[in-house]
Amino acid sequence: MEAGKQVTAWYCQTRDMTVLIAGCGDLGTEAGLRFAAAGHQVVGLRRSPEKLPPEIHGVYADLSKGVPQLPADVDIVVVAVAADSSTEEAYRAAYLNGVKNVLDALERQSLEPRRILFVSSTAVYKDSGGAVVDESTPTEPTRFSGKILVEAEDLLFARTHGTATRPISLRLGGIYGPGRTRLIDQVRTGKAVIPAQPRHTNRVHRDDAAAMIVHLTTMEQVPDPVYVGVDDYPAEMGEVMQFLAAGMGCPEPPTAEPGGASDAGPGDKRCSNALLRASGFDFAFPTFEEGYRALLDGQGVRHP
Ligand SMILES: NC(=O)c1ccc[n+]([C@@H]2O[C@H](COP(=O)([O-])OP(=O)(O)OC[C@H]3O[C@@H](n4cnc5c(N)ncnc54)[C@H](OP(=O)(O)O)[C@@H]3O)[C@@H](O)[C@H]2O)c1
Repeated sequence: MEAGKQVTAWYCQTRDMTVLIAGCGDLGTEAGLRFAAAGHQVVGLRRSPEKLPPEIHGVYADLSKGVPQLPADVDIVVVAVAADSSTEEAYRAAYLNGVKNVLDALERQSLEPRRILFVSSTAVYKDSGGAVVDESTPTEPTRFSGKILVEAEDLLFARTHGTATRPISLRLGGIYGPGRTRLIDQVRTGKAVIPAQPRHTNRVHRDDAAAMIVHLTTMEQVPDPVYVGVDDYPAEMGEVMQFLAAGMGCPEPPTAEPGGASDAGPGDKRCSNALLRASGFDFAFPTFEEGYRALLDGQGVRHP
């Protein structure tokens, strides 16, 4: 448990912590740059560490197989690995083996970082017919992806139980941001179709997701175990498409025939960020409008 003088001392420490980012891709790098800018030492683990910017000390690791010697003074661990493909095997290798191997390495070296944050997903929740979903909603994933993420979260919670480490699962909605142009491209090329049944899209800009990682791992307040990481406004998909079409001067996408092939069907949920907001987090892009406006203006880069 985090209690006593040692913890108080850490809360006063705003610089000079050692942060390990396991699976340091686009999101991990953006978070790493923010940790570095705040004066912390950042180590990034990935299979191609040469792609990392100079602010992040890159170390080769295949997290699905094992983790090398870790810095002995590690204070914060972030697991932000992504699966190589959308198969059950790839998900198990990245998320489950990734978390297990990081925890094994820490245990091997008898290290107990203050906080470990696992980047999870709102895919752990089943569609709720448009009802509001938050941290108190039971995880009932219907697909293998959500099931494996729940297994990885459970492993993190079980293995840190009774230790000095505070585990956090950050369940992110759909990340959009620089270089993630699928929806923009669909609207621009006339391939986008507005679902006939209203369907909410729970989104978060990459920069806000990175800022959440820094906030939750360094905030003075003791973090809760789970946070839903989405922006303020679960917009309907059609609304986002119409906004993009207007912003790019393209024709408005057509609406699908109810029950037709391009109708997304009734699956739907609206995720709430109230707990994250209550922790003091502020968004740079509170809704898709601010975020997509910045993207259409060409702001930001996707990290390799
Ligand atoms: N995309 C979404 O909408 C969404 C939604 C919710 C949550 N998330 C989560 O957000 C997180 C970050 O996503 P992202 O966009 O930053 O992904 P990304 O850019 O693909 O970064 C993930 C990084 O993980 C590394 N990696 C993959 N397998 C590895 C392995 N076996 N060993 C070591 N490193 C490995 C890759 O680097 P190397 O190839 O160099 O190893 C890659 O750069 C992921 O946890 C993802 O599940 C994403």
